[in-house]
Amino acid sequence: MIDSWTFNKIAGAVLGTALLTLGLGQLGAAIYHPNEPSEEHPGFKVDVAEAGEAAGGGTDAPALSLGALLAAADPKKGATEAKACIACHDFSKGGVVKTGPDLWDIVDRPKAHFAGFEYSAGLQAMSSENWTYENLNTFLTNPAAYVKGTKMGFGGIKNDAKRANLLAYLATLSDAPKPFPAP
Ligand code: HEC
Repeated sequence: MIDSWTFNKIAGAVLGTALLTLGLGQLGAAIYHPNEPSEEHPGFKVDVAEAGEAAGGGTDAPALSLGALLAAADPKKGATEAKACIACHDFSKGGVVKTGPDLWDIVDRPKAHFAGFEYSAGLQAMSSENWTYENLNTFLTNPAAYVKGTKMGFGGIKNDAKRANLLAYLATLSDAPKPFPAP
């Protein structure tokens, strides 16, 4: 026979558990659905650039130009990025062929012209052009996409700022560093 005191204790425990469960449920809802639309925030914000904006006509901040990236670049940080290159490239004046050609004075240098290095057919086909900040930037983003069948076994540097730092460092490898493109 349960006396009323025991009954009260049991009832109290049941009620307490129910309240706790309810409380945790609400807490859980608050944690797991923090962005549900509410009156202050009626919907999710989705940024979709219109075609005209992407072309430069809009108010959204455009991606930085190469000139702007280079103006903000740090050649010392670029020297760190360049550690990825030294296994295959010499950087010194009058340097030698390693796995790849020497890269002294590479900005404005004719493509595929380092004496004693046998370039891929893809790079040889570009040998009437010079390396510029722009095309080095494209090449170093994804070498294999820029030079078909390139011999350069390097995946590229996808981060714009890091690549700009590297380009700023490569620019210093010259007796007469070439001016950066305008921002
Ligand atoms: C695994 C070796 C390897 C690594 C790492 C590498 N390269 Fe190369 N690189 C090559 C080879 C090989 C070529 C020749 C490519 C061809 O003939 O298609 C080349 C070509 C180039 C050229 C063209 C040179 C010319 O005379 O036309 C540039 C510029 C260049 N590399 C820059 C870099 C930079 C900057 C890095 C570091 C971020 C780098 N490479 C990392 C092997 C490498």
